[in-house]
Amino acid sequence: MDTSAHTDYPLMPELARRHSPRAFDHDATLTDEQLGSLLEAARWSASSSNSQPWRLFVAKRGTPLFDSMVDALASGNQAWAVHASALIVNVAKMVTDEGKDEKWAVYDIGQAAAHLSIQATHMGLIVHQMGGFDKEAMHGALNLDDAHQPWAVLAVGHQGDPALLPEKLQEREKNPRVRKPLDEIAPGWRQ
Ligand SMILES: Cc1cc2nc3c(=O)[nH]c(=O)nc-3n(C[C@H](O)[C@H](O)[C@H](O)COP(=O)(O)O)c2cc1C
Repeated sequence: MDTSAHTDYPLMPELARRHSPRAFDHDATLTDEQLGSLLEAARWSASSSNSQPWRLFVAKRGTPLFDSMVDALASGNQAWAVHASALIVNVAKMVTDEGKDEKWAVYDIGQAAAHLSIQATHMGLIVHQMGGFDKEAMHGALNLDDAHQPWAVLAVGHQGDPALLPEKLQEREKNPRVRKPLDEIAPGWRQ
């Protein structure tokens, strides 16, 4: 299956290869060394005023926390994400310790997620981010206070066999990867 990006201009291999598969190898596990590198990649992303207003909650498959995270996922995501080796919930700190808005928290946490995804690709791992989950349930599962909000769940693991996915999802795995044209996302960039 061709999953690489078809680009108009060259990209570094990890950026071209990164994509969001749903077929995770259910027998695979992640070592602390591997998870550590992924978290390190997130830690070294840029951050407004270097405030790093986010926390990453990690659960390996087979732990009670992993099961609680899966319970909070939308059912369409549960079907495949349950096979990931680990789930990572990206939580943004929306309020400073002084009670002001943490204005760039959501922007920052997206950068951390992108860093983590590219590091994972470099390591031969796969990541699939999800916004499809019950925020309140996840908030409760992670025992968060009011200042913190979960924004995305990242399924992390090893590529599995797409033939083992439910039929509908197998079809989606085969969909060609498409993007808006450069001229649409960066109007007038050549001038
Ligand atoms: C914030 C965010 C939320 C997403 N939520 C979901 C989701 O709930 N379920 C899902 O299957 N994919 C989800 N995705 C994956 C996107 O559908 C995917 O990144 C997009 O289709 C582009 O495909 P690619 O990552 O393979 O390039 C999400 C991605 C992001 C960045």
